[in-house]
Amino acid sequence: MHQINTDIVIVGAGLAGLYTALNIDSDKRIVIVVKEDLSDTNSRLAQGGIAGELTINPDNLDAHIKDTLTAGSFLNDENAVRVLVNEAGKNIRRLMDFDVAFDRDDAGNVLLTQEGGHSTRRILHAGGDSTGRDIMKALRAECKKRPNIQVLENTMALELLHQDNICYGVSCLNGDNGNFLVLADHTVLATGGIGNLYGATTNSTSATGDGIAIAFRAGVAVDHMEFVQFHPTAFHNEYAKHRQKFLISEAVRGEGAHLINSEGERFMNKYDERLELAPRDKVSQAIYREMYDTWTDHVYLDARHLGEAFLKQRFPTIYEHLAHEGYRMEHDLIPVSPVEHFGVGGIRTDIDGKTTMNRLFANGECASNGVHGANRLASNSLLECIVFGGRIADWINQSAPATPSFQPQVSIHTSHNYNYIPMKTKLGMLMDEYVGIVRTNDGLLLAKQQIGEMEYNLLRHPNNSKYYFEALNMVQTALLIIRGALARETSVGCHYRIN
Ligand code: SIN
Repeated sequence: MHQINTDIVIVGAGLAGLYTALNIDSDKRIVIVVKEDLSDTNSRLAQGGIAGELTINPDNLDAHIKDTLTAGSFLNDENAVRVLVNEAGKNIRRLMDFDVAFDRDDAGNVLLTQEGGHSTRRILHAGGDSTGRDIMKALRAECKKRPNIQVLENTMALELLHQDNICYGVSCLNGDNGNFLVLADHTVLATGGIGNLYGATTNSTSATGDGIAIAFRAGVAVDHMEFVQFHPTAFHNEYAKHRQKFLISEAVRGEGAHLINSEGERFMNKYDERLELAPRDKVSQAIYREMYDTWTDHVYLDARHLGEAFLKQRFPTIYEHLAHEGYRMEHDLIPVSPVEHFGVGGIRTDIDGKTTMNRLFANGECASNGVHGANRLASNSLLECIVFGGRIADWINQSAPATPSFQPQVSIHTSHNYNYIPMKTKLGMLMDEYVGIVRTNDGLLLAKQQIGEMEYNLLRHPNNSKYYFEALNMVQTALLIIRGALARETSVGCHYRIN
């Protein structure tokens, strides 16, 4: 089988993947494998911003640590949180070196906003509400300047190549060129989220839990899978057929918008003294309760008092999208509902991004490095990608090359033109119904049994196709979430059990 030999292979080209690549020494050869094209990543969809203190003032740093731990219900690894917060400034400045233009006032000071769970304004943003898009554009441009980085688009990583708990790269499938291997000294999984396991998500269509499932099949430890974060304010359009829902950034509430139920009442005072700026788990659970009590499937975001000029200037992407949908933010209540947004758990790593398999690293949403605990603090996700991406790069830069003694043996299944869409649709319905914001033991068992049957059928009928591996990854990642949710019998963070 065709084989590419390189120093590092990175699976995924979101912020976690590209930032890691850009911090690896330029004398090392890097191959980036990306399932769709370079521009289709979740990171590009991030609106609100990137949390991080640019000062070294210990009070500011301590406050960010405290907010992160509080949002995570103290199930975080405190050491990892300290790394995240203390290394924010250095890595955000590095983004600026890569020409990321954060929004500034007329005097040139970086503008900061606030989101749920933050006790102060410490979130940098770009383009008003297109932080992810602007960061990714700058990093893609930087990657193009680097001759040591080769990007393989439309290429799916299928399995890890490993022996004696050492990783040697990945097997891949490319739409045009078929199966091949990428053999590398170091492998980094940066495949992003899990959104498409659910019927409604803010994630891009490529977020199917791939890295988590690939690692799990190779025996790598995963943890905290039961913690799935639902974003409280996705635009609610009952006619939309797509899984991917339009995000209305928490920064809109950070700038003063309110939540109103279908009876016209502002309701967050019943649930949390921080009102609309409580952490996301609390706000989504409160909305769920309000929807249940008022027999409806959405609530409203009220930003009318912020005024047209401010809304257009501060949130140009959101304003324009909603106007296109027929809503004027300064006149209309905006229907919103919680949808899946972020997989908090994932591939277990230490503070250098090292997994339980030698020479295998994980970064970004597919990783579980301990910073988020039971619920991620808003805008800590882009920060996590750069802080731990920087640490992975440092580790790799200081490591000796592997001595290649590995003889890959990969069997290729035949290809069938099966359609996995009905299975994926059923998976989304089961996850929404039984593994969503509110969970019960019976519901989790039912989902486990039905999704377990899907896994059984997929494993009995292997198929050399991207769609097969995507379906398998989705089903196996869903089962990991369900097993985690069954094992954690009490409610904490974004895992809410009513029995
Ligand atoms: C948002 O802008 O509300 C999303 C940011 C995040 O997920 O942290």
